[in-house]
Formats: sequence, structure tokens, C-alpha cells
Amino acid sequence: MGITFADNLEIIHTNEFFIASVQAISDMTATGRLNSETAEHSDKTSRICQVLGYAAGLETDTNIALAVGGELHDTGKEHCLSIISSGQLPTAEERMVIEEHPKESKGFTEKLFASSRALFIPRTASLLAGVHHGLHKIKAHNYPPIETLGASRRELALLKKIGPILMVADKVQALTGRGRSYREARLIGEGLVIREGNDGIYDAAEYACEQVIAFDPHLNLDASRVAELIIEQSEFLEQNSLAA
Ligand SMILES: [Fe+2]
Ligand SMILES: [Fe+2]
Repeated sequence: MGITFADNLEIIHTNEFFIASVQAISDMTATGRLNSETAEHSDKTSRICQVLGYAAGLETDTNIALAVGGELHDTGKEHCLSIISSGQLPTAEERMVIEEHPKESKGFTEKLFASSRALFIPRTASLLAGVHHGLHKIKAHNYPPIETLGASRRELALLKKIGPILMVADKVQALTGRGRSYREARLIGEGLVIREGNDGIYDAAEYACEQVIAFDPHLNLDASRVAELIIEQSEFLEQNSLAA
């Protein structure tokens, strides 16, 4: 018999101290201290990653790397805090600066795990932080292409498998969590309406899956199953305010 969700939770609880320590460090970064929305976003993204990673049948170490990557993926926003906290829609140049943040997050994560950076979990978490906005070269944006990460062929294959999980978790949380002025303005421009309650999670999951599939049409992502999983595990996720 395979590992059940309860078993998986037990494994995660065994590693609870490690994940909680990473969370505490993430909260203590300048981004976490000065921007509570980003701190909350990172914690919740990390938990959604664990649920989706379990559903995808990931090995425990890979799921922990995903949880750690989810926790640290936005730590690099320190360099653009004044822009994201201004409450104003960013200019084209400011958006370019914001889009540099995955590279900064990768650098922060590598520094954090400097003494153990060659180990699987720190290494994978750093790569995930660097690639969390895109797996391929996206010409219209300034996000770093996957080829610039310095990953091995084997790591690239893993990133192509688990990167989309972080991308979906990141987007679903950002769309259903507390709003950010620059993001909200963009979403209204895109005509997306996020409704209250579970409908909002379905809207967000559908939108996130569509966006991620746009990077790779062969990805097998089922938007309604993603939404169901998040709702089913809402107690574990402590996501009661997810759609608020
Ligand atoms: Fe980000
Ligand atoms: Fe994020």
C-alpha cells in the first residue's frame, strides 16, 4: 500500500522543526519583517506545495525541498520592497526590478544554506526559488530563464516536474490571499474576477493552471482537481481565510 496522506503528514511533522526553522528565518528576513503580506503568502504557498506535492506522489525529500522552496521563494523581494509597498501600480522600469526577485531569492537561499548547499534539499530549494516564475525563457518578461540557473541535466528534469507545483501554489495563494495593490490592478486589467469562498479557489486554480500550462502544453494539470485538493486539506493548510 502506498503512503497515505496521514503518513505523509507524519513525515512532514517529523521534519516540522526543520520546516518551522526555515519559516522563522523567512519571517525574519527584511522582506518578512517589513512586508507581512509577503511573509503570510510564503507560509501559505509552502503549505499548498506540500499538499500538491503529496498528491503528485513526490518522494519525501522532494516534497520537503518543495516546501522549503515555497517558503523562501520571495525572500529576494528585499531589493524592491519600496516598490511593492508603495500601493502604486509599478511603472515599466519598476516591474523589471520586481521581476529580478527570483534571482535575488536564489542568492538568499544559497547564502542561508551556505554550509550545506550541495545537499539535495538546500540545493533544490535554491533552484526552485530562482525559477519560481517560469520554466522557460519568456521574452516578454525579465524573469531568469531556466538555463541560467546552473542546474545539471538531472536537476532540470526535476525542476520541470516540481516547478509547476510551486508556480500553481504561488499563483493560487497570491490570487486568493490578501490583495497587493500592484497585483490587483494587473488582475483587474486582465479581466479576472476572484469570487468569495470556494468559487474563488476554483477561479484561481483554473487561472493558475492555465498560465502554467501556457509554459508547457504537455503538463498534466487538472485545475478542478488542484482546487479540490486545496479545499479538502484546508484544515491542514490553515487556509480558512484563503478566499477572504
Ligand atoms: Fe515571486
Ligand atoms: Fe510568491
